[in-house]
Amino acid sequence: MEIDVFTLFPRWFEWFQTQRHVVNALDGGHRLGYVSYRDHTPLSAGQVDDTPFGGGVGMVLRVDVVDAALRAHYGCEGADVARERRVIALSAGGRLLDDGLVSELAAEPRLTLLCGRYEGFDERVVEHLATDSVSIGRYVLAGGELAAMVLCDAVLRKLPGVLGDEASAVEESWSAALEGAPEYPHYTRPAEYRGWRVPEVLLSGHHERIRQWRREQSRRRAAPGSG
Ligand code: ADE
Repeated sequence: MEIDVFTLFPRWFEWFQTQRHVVNALDGGHRLGYVSYRDHTPLSAGQVDDTPFGGGVGMVLRVDVVDAALRAHYGCEGADVARERRVIALSAGGRLLDDGLVSELAAEPRLTLLCGRYEGFDERVVEHLATDSVSIGRYVLAGGELAAMVLCDAVLRKLPGVLGDEASAVEESWSAALEGAPEYPHYTRPAEYRGWRVPEVLLSGHHERIRQWRREQSRRRAAPGSG
C-alpha cells in the first residue's frame, strides 16, 4: 500500500514513522510519503490559508493551495487524482472512522490523506478534490495530522505481516469476527496478584469453554449501558 499525506506539518510524522508496526509496514514494502502544502503554494510568502467568506473566526485552508500540491505531486489535474485513488479529507464533520471503514481502506492499493488546519478546508476541497471526508470522532482537533496518524495506524496494522506473528487483527474489538462487539478481556501472569484472581475458566485449558466465555464477555460488553 502507498499512502501520501498532505500536511502543513510533515515533521509531526517523524515520531509516527518510528513506531514498530509502522517500521514493519515500511520494511515490508508499504510506503508512507509526505507532501507539504507550503512547498507548493502558488501564493506569496508561503500563504496557505485565508479568512472565511461571510465572516467568522479562524482560517480556512485554500482550495487553490490543496489543488496546487496535488498537481505538483501527481503531475495531473488535482481533480483527476480522485479518479485513481481514494483521496480522504480529514475533517471533524466527516464519516466516522470505524473498523468497517478501516478494513475498506486497508484493501485499497493507494490512499491520499489531506490534513486540514485551523477551521478546516474550503468546502470545494471536499466537493471536487476528495473522494471521502473522514472524522476520527465527534470532537474538533487543531488539525488533521493526528487524525491522519490514527487512520494510518489503524489501516497499517490490518495489513498482512505488519503486526508480527504474535498478534492478530482478526478477532479484536469491533471486528466482524466478534460480530462488531468490543473484545473480551485479556489476562496474563501472575494468575493471582494481591488476591485479584484470573477467571478460572482461562486456566482450565478447556478450549471450547474458553471460547464460549470470551464470546459471552464480548457480548456483555456490547450491551447498552455496560460502559
Ligand atoms: N480535524 C479536526 N478535527 C478532526 C476530527 N475529529 N477528525 C478528523 N479530522 C479532524
